Amino acid sequence: MNKHIAFSSAPLGHQILGVDIAAGVSDEQFKEVADTFDKYGVVVLRNQKITPEQHIDFSRRFGPTELYGIASYLLPGHPEIFVVSNIVENGKPIGMADAGRTWHSDMCYVTSPPRCSLLYGLEVPRDDAGEPLGDTLFGSTQAAYDALSPEMKQKVEGLKVRNSYATNVERKQKFSTVSEKAQVERLKNQAKFPDVIHSLVRQHPITGRKCLYLSEGLSVAIEGWPPEESDKFITEMLAYMTRPEFVYRHRWCEGDLLIWDNCSAIHLAIPDFAADNHRRMHRTTILYEDSVEQGQLAA
Ligand code: SIN
Repeated sequence: MNKHIAFSSAPLGHQILGVDIAAGVSDEQFKEVADTFDKYGVVVLRNQKITPEQHIDFSRRFGPTELYGIASYLLPGHPEIFVVSNIVENGKPIGMADAGRTWHSDMCYVTSPPRCSLLYGLEVPRDDAGEPLGDTLFGSTQAAYDALSPEMKQKVEGLKVRNSYATNVERKQKFSTVSEKAQVERLKNQAKFPDVIHSLVRQHPITGRKCLYLSEGLSVAIEGWPPEESDKFITEMLAYMTRPEFVYRHRWCEGDLLIWDNCSAIHLAIPDFAADNHRRMHRTTILYEDSVEQGQLAA
C-alpha cells in the first residue's frame, strides 16, 4: 500500500509516498497511482532515482509515448524523452529553456490530445537561501467548470474553440530564446499541424467529468464569434480558470516525478531564475490507448 498525502486546499494535486519506481511497481501499486491520478489530476511521486529507461517504462503503463517534434530537444538515445532545461553544453542548449511559459494543456492542437505528461526533476534551481525556484502551477479545469454559475454553464455548453499550433509559433518567434535550429524546426512543424477545433467544455475521456479546455496563445478563437468578442472571452475565461482557488503550485525537489492530466488541468512554468541557475527536467508525453495521433509532436 502506498502512503497518501493530500495537498492543502487545492482542488488538484496529491502526493504519494512509498512508490519506488527503480525497485519496481506492482500492478496493485500502479492501479492505486493511476486511480489517484484520475481523481486528483496532478500526482507527485517523491524521491525517485530513475534512469531514462525506467522513466519511459513507467510512463508506458499510462499509455503509448508520444515523440516530441523538435529533434534538438530529445534526449540522445531516448527520443521518448523531451528535455526541458536552460543548460548549455559545448555551446548547444541540451533542452528547451522556455517550455510552458503560458497556461496550457500539452498538445491541445491535435485532434486527440494526450492523456498526461510525466516530468522528472533532475536539477532544480535554488535561491541564495536554498529555496527552490522554477515552480510549476496547475489550474483545475474541472473545478473551474464545476464552479460556473448555471447561466455560464449554459453559455459555454456547445462552444467550439480553434486551437492553433501555427499561430502560437508565430507569436513565439517574436520573443523566444530557443536556438535558431529549434526555431526552424518549429516553423517546419507548422505545416504538420493544421488548426483543430475542440469543445470548450470537454468531457474527460476516463472520468467523464466536464472540464474547460483552453490554452493561452494556442486557443485562438471561439468559432463563429467576432474576433474582439472572442479574444476578450478567452482572456477572461483563462483568468477565471487560473484563479487562486483552482490552482496548485508545485515546488520542486530533485527526484520528483510529477504527473499531470492534460484534460482536467492546465499548467504554467514560472521562469523566476537566472540563466546560470540550472534547471533540468525530463518529460514523457502519454497518449490515450486509442489515440490516432501517435508519432506526432508535443509542446
Ligand atoms: C511543460 O510545460 O512541459 C514544462 C513545465 C515545467 O517546466 O515546469
